[in-house]
Amino acid sequence: MKIIEVSAPATIANLGPGFDIVGLAIENYRDIVRIELTDDESVTLEVVNNTGVAVASKPEENSAVVSALRVMEFAGVKSGFKMKLIKNVPIGIGLGSSGASAAAAAYAMNILLGGKLPMEILVKSAGEGEKVACGSPHLDNVAPSLYGGFTMILDVDKPEIFNIKPSIDFSIVLITPKVNLPSNKTEYARSLLPKMIDLETMVKQTSSLTRLITGIIKGDLKMIGEAISSDYVIEPARSVMIPRFYEVKEAALKAGALGFSLSGAGPSVFALTYPEDAENIRREIIEKFHEYGVESVGIIAKPTPIGARIEQTD
Ligand code: HSE
Repeated sequence: MKIIEVSAPATIANLGPGFDIVGLAIENYRDIVRIELTDDESVTLEVVNNTGVAVASKPEENSAVVSALRVMEFAGVKSGFKMKLIKNVPIGIGLGSSGASAAAAAYAMNILLGGKLPMEILVKSAGEGEKVACGSPHLDNVAPSLYGGFTMILDVDKPEIFNIKPSIDFSIVLITPKVNLPSNKTEYARSLLPKMIDLETMVKQTSSLTRLITGIIKGDLKMIGEAISSDYVIEPARSVMIPRFYEVKEAALKAGALGFSLSGAGPSVFALTYPEDAENIRREIIEKFHEYGVESVGIIAKPTPIGARIEQTD
């Protein structure tokens, strides 16, 4: 096989207190990466951009290309390739867009090279692609893009991943307020975070993370929701990016949302809901933002158990 096309889904990562550790794949958007191995050592990138936002088109600056190159290094192979990236995951709104491209590329390249590398190495490779795009190699987006469902990073360095597919039906109301943020948004959102936290806060945050993971394992939506809403470190620091964040959060919870927080590095916010409540909560959040003079758009997203998958081979 010399040509392969692979897709990988958008993700919501952090899920409140799971900063850089817990993520969830959603089915609404998938990036597609097509790779053809060539006989020379050159690397080319063609981007079909369906997002309306600029994509890094220089190969060395693109998360998908860097991720594919890292897979080749891990596999000990030298080859050129032509990559075509069909960019569908919205960029810069907190849906792990560069991570989805990196995940699809890592998965595709591994299969082209014989499929010998384990998924963890693909996560590591994709994380390095992610670093080129947003300045740090966090793995909480690339892991669910590769595995599907919920993922938890058990060891950041190895890395070691625990993957669990959702056993219950739920919806994610995802709302993106129109706010002006620096173009290096993820770096900016990370720069807002405290470098140190006190012991009391650490214990509260660890307890929330434990609740989140317990809820995911038990398939207990209320528990997951409560945990998502109880982030004592990241949300307080980043909520300054979103006007009236706490008023909107309160309105969403009052309307029946099970949990509410920022999606990824923002500026989207998300609510975990029962499927039957999702549309009402979507309207409520948009109206609340509007009341405060902030325009926003929103969708109802669904989790997907399917991570990176082959779309086509030649
Ligand atoms: N864990 C990352 C963050 C996700 O919150 O900064 C964004 O890519």
